[in-house]
Amino acid sequence: MLLASRLLLAVVLGLTSVVVFASPVVPRVPHERRSAIPHGWAPTRRADSDFIIPLRIGLSQSNLQSLEEYLLDVSHPESPNYGNHWSPAKVAETFKPSAESVSTVRGWLVESGIGAERVRLNPSGGWLVANVTVAEAEELLGTEYYVYEHAETGHKQLGCGQTYHLPEHVSPHVELVTPTLHFDAKVRHRRGGPLEKRSVKSKVGSPGSGPVSPKTTGIIKTIFNQLEHCDEQITPICVRALYDFVYLPLATHKNSIGIVEYTPQAYVPSDLDMFFGNFSASQVGERPNLISIDGGFDVNGESDLDLQYAMSLVGKSQPVTLYQTGDDVEGASFNTLLDALDGSYCTFEGGDDPEDPAYPDPFGGYQGDLQCGIVTPAHVISTSYSYDEWELTPAYEQRQCAEYAKLGLMGVTMLYSSGDYGVAGNGGICLDSDGEPDFFGTSFAPSFPGSCPFITSVGATQVNPGAKVTDPESACMQVIFSGGGFSNVFAMPSYQKSAVEHYLSKYAPAYPAGTFNTSGSRAYPDLSANGANYVVAVQGEFELVYGTSASSPVTAAILSAVNDARLAIGKKPIGFINPTIYSGAFQHAFNDITNGTNPGCGTDGFTAEPGWDPVTGLGTPNFPRLLASWLLLP
Ligand SMILES: *[C@@H]1O[C@H](CO)[C@@H](O)[C@H](O)[C@H]1NC(C)=O
Ligand SMILES: *[C@@H]1O[C@H](CO)[C@@H](O)[C@H](O)[C@H]1NC(C)=O
Ligand SMILES: *[C@@H]1O[C@H](CO)[C@@H](O)[C@H](O)[C@H]1NC(C)=O
Ligand SMILES: *[C@@H]1O[C@H](CO)[C@@H](O)[C@H](O)[C@H]1NC(C)=O
Repeated sequence: MLLASRLLLAVVLGLTSVVVFASPVVPRVPHERRSAIPHGWAPTRRADSDFIIPLRIGLSQSNLQSLEEYLLDVSHPESPNYGNHWSPAKVAETFKPSAESVSTVRGWLVESGIGAERVRLNPSGGWLVANVTVAEAEELLGTEYYVYEHAETGHKQLGCGQTYHLPEHVSPHVELVTPTLHFDAKVRHRRGGPLEKRSVKSKVGSPGSGPVSPKTTGIIKTIFNQLEHCDEQITPICVRALYDFVYLPLATHKNSIGIVEYTPQAYVPSDLDMFFGNFSASQVGERPNLISIDGGFDVNGESDLDLQYAMSLVGKSQPVTLYQTGDDVEGASFNTLLDALDGSYCTFEGGDDPEDPAYPDPFGGYQGDLQCGIVTPAHVISTSYSYDEWELTPAYEQRQCAEYAKLGLMGVTMLYSSGDYGVAGNGGICLDSDGEPDFFGTSFAPSFPGSCPFITSVGATQVNPGAKVTDPESACMQVIFSGGGFSNVFAMPSYQKSAVEHYLSKYAPAYPAGTFNTSGSRAYPDLSANGANYVVAVQGEFELVYGTSASSPVTAAILSAVNDARLAIGKKPIGFINPTIYSGAFQHAFNDITNGTNPGCGTDGFTAEPGWDPVTGLGTPNFPRLLASWLLLP
């Protein structure tokens, strides 16, 4: 059939190309643009004009302009609706694209010669899809298609040039069109084993730069597990001492906490037991509840770290859910997880954005259909993986960020590690003056989703060498630097305005214009927790591990205890916490970190200062105060 339609098309092309493809004179505007091709990818040739591609048009969602207002309404501590989270059905209904958007975009496709019978609306009503030839797509979008190839992996991908266009009257009804500018967004750990051991330099040019991995300084033979040695080795007792975190859960049947891992990362059961055996004996044999998303399977470093600390800190009675996402052949993207958490986000049945993996997996992995809305999201979800903003297009990021806001509306707390390269991007990559990635660039490279205003971004601190566990911590400056800075995509949300403006007015470093975004954009991280010298069992040995990768699950465990206490007295979970934690009532609920910096891009980065700062956010959790403050809220 495919062949037949290509033949037919070739005939049509040869005979009547002018008539079929003459475009009516409608003014077109650039719809999306990318500043740079991700590292490693290069166009090798023009795509064959008769090659058929599944063109997918993501329609503009309704009411998106009110998203922040809706979210604040249920998340701001002074709102009368605080805690009145929305049902998934209300979320789906509120943001469903309008009939006008559907008809405008469909009308344009049909007028452009794509027969109405070829255009389908997906079940959730968010996407129009049509199989078109490359020639048709080029005509529709005013662009050229190329075959891109990755220098290291040899993977090929179809994509257009640096921009594509839409008619002026259509553009407002469309969020994004795929396949166009979006590259393989799968979450993959770079080569080099479960824990990142390669030098910063050797990472330049790795696939899409990929996610943050925790760092290790190697195997340790002597385990102290004593409060006197928390400056050298962090074990669960150190975390408890640092944040006064002692809590006996009361509502474990109502409470939930989830840890996200992207395959091939997976935990090693015997590592959990080795860890529990040494640090939480009653938990030997305990496992997370596995929810496998699109073939996610059990098999190391990141997962071992996240689960050992999250599980031992929440304690034996509170189950921890593991969202193991993606199969071992294709991997997964953040969208794969979001599809599973919210069915209304799915692109269409059995598929997703082309930059995301396709299920059933054509390369032999997971053979089931893409999992849409199969998971009731846990109250707190921690993810220790991230991209740099420059790796993805703004429209792709905005669409994903809006989805995090919807999870917030549903009462979910989404935590992301802020990155381990200070003001630089993953692998120490910075930006040049045109916003393009450059290892020797002098402009800072913000992290995503850290820069999305609707997630909570977690930075890293340390117990200073030689200091006591009761001494104030500093920003982490061992092995890693706490990710932080200012977005180039997202504007500053109202909840952090006064905190960030206080920092900028008193402590903004005097860097040349263009070093970081000073136009009033989203600043991160929001808070922080220890990220240095974690004792983690990895493949049968204890290693010392560093990174915001550790800070995020530790924070998740602490926030989960707050949820437990609220649920136990009939209150709602804390949901999207940012409007609350930046509010006056929480001013003393964090240990303010005022020492250390987050260097990168040939600079000292920013400095930790009194109040919020783009190194450690508001500071580290003071559990008793957080608990008391949250119990006072309705
Ligand atoms: C596009 O083609 C594929 C493969 O032939 C088919 O499975 C799919 O249903 C088609 N989609 C549309 C919208 O026609
Ligand atoms: C504690 O860790 C050591 C490795 O340092 C391991 O050999 C031992 O089995 C662990 N203890 C328990 C009780 O699991
Ligand atoms: C700075 O951030 C804003 C979003 O707040 C964005 O619109 C603008 O393009 C960014 N500037 C640069 C140079 O990236
Ligand atoms: C600040 O941090 C550095 C290590 O990064 C440490 O050597 C120094 O003692 C700290 N100073 C204070 C006042 O905590």
